[in-house]
Amino acid sequence: MNVQQKVNGVWGSRWVFILAATGSAVGLGNIWKFPYITGENGGGAFVLVYLACIALIGVPIMIAEVMLGRRGRMSPINSMLLLARESNASQWWASVGWFGTLAGIFILSFYSVIAGWALQYMSLSAGGEFNQITGEASGAAFSGLLADVGSLVTWHTVFMVLTLLIVMAGVVKGLGKAISVIMPLLLILLLVMLGYSITEGNFAAGWDFLFAFDASKLEWNSVLVALGHAFFTLSLGMGAIMAYGSYMPEEKVSIGNTVIIIAVLDTLIALIAGLVIFPIVFANPAIEPGAGPGLLFVSLPVAFGNMAGGQLFGFMFFALVALAALSSAISIIEPTVAWLVESRMASRIKATLGLGFAIWFVGLGTVFSFNHWADYTLFGKTFFDSLDYLTANVMLPLGGLLIAIFVGWFMNAGAIVEELGPIDQGGYKYWLRILRYVSPVLLAIVFVMSLVG
Ligand code: PHE
Repeated sequence: MNVQQKVNGVWGSRWVFILAATGSAVGLGNIWKFPYITGENGGGAFVLVYLACIALIGVPIMIAEVMLGRRGRMSPINSMLLLARESNASQWWASVGWFGTLAGIFILSFYSVIAGWALQYMSLSAGGEFNQITGEASGAAFSGLLADVGSLVTWHTVFMVLTLLIVMAGVVKGLGKAISVIMPLLLILLLVMLGYSITEGNFAAGWDFLFAFDASKLEWNSVLVALGHAFFTLSLGMGAIMAYGSYMPEEKVSIGNTVIIIAVLDTLIALIAGLVIFPIVFANPAIEPGAGPGLLFVSLPVAFGNMAGGQLFGFMFFALVALAALSSAISIIEPTVAWLVESRMASRIKATLGLGFAIWFVGLGTVFSFNHWADYTLFGKTFFDSLDYLTANVMLPLGGLLIAIFVGWFMNAGAIVEELGPIDQGGYKYWLRILRYVSPVLLAIVFVMSLVG
């Protein structure tokens, strides 16, 4: 056992890794973000591009990230240093890790504020606030929440504290167990909700919106958003999955198959969330598909408020959203905590607290962008919009691009094959070709076109 494993831990088995990585992947990205950006980008065509991005770019890069972590066995920054050395490549590759640290700070700062909304909606549902609510009243309630700085800060703080407590306890002990309860429950509740939207919502309209392909609605910027979301939803491009990969046990398992399981689960949950939300949206004229970040929080209360047992279901649903967010949040901060601990700069507790405070502080910017700072915009984007856009659509794809280039062109091939586990030659060659040519070229095209077009 080497240094890193002693410092930061190892998963009990491959299945704990799968659970943890799924916990990281499935979160607000699936339930909150996917539906609202699909709504903003016109539906079907966007969904198709997103699915293509998951399959063609997301999965190959996820395999690469897990492989890098497992080979390096350290935090992303140190793993990249080590692997660059092993492959006689420049030490500059460590910047992939640094870049990821910055992206992580930015992402968690707004992620926590949104997760705070879910926490607040738990208490509102439980208190019966949504009983018999209409689409209009629900929209008004949400606007009221955004104007209330006090509650936004309170729930953001609560969520950060929960995240930090788990990270302090250590990933293996804090997490592995929680996930195995959260994920199945979340899926069951989503299916219950699906039952509601099929029977009570305008299911046909919702289905059409998600799956009817209309290329005329697609602009290059939507393609970039779909690509960025593929990275965001699979937790790629910033080291979260690399860090989790570094805790994988030594057993000989195929990284490729493992990654496919995670990607399929993640995609399924996003699509089901869409099939829950849009039929409700189309059954309530007061709610717009393009309503933006509030979509989930405006549409679902209408469903809960008008269904039998909705008070309880509403409470449970938002609790599960918060828990799913929690299992993602810990993976956003883990790579940097692991690095601080490993480099002996701080104990796990101090590292977590210091980093957590910084993130909490940046999060205040997101809180204010819904009220005091709502009118301060850059290129038409508030502080929150800018962070969201910058991280998902620029930083994560760039991180992924660097990872694809490193593994495809610079990393020692013997090391790659050894680390991937049992693989068939055909699949391996196909994967390597995607990393070398397809992913970099597609990423470059999307970047350039979204800048010019
Ligand atoms: N994948 C998470 C979600 O969909 C968000 C996330 C992004 C987690 C980046 C880790 C790293 O909610």
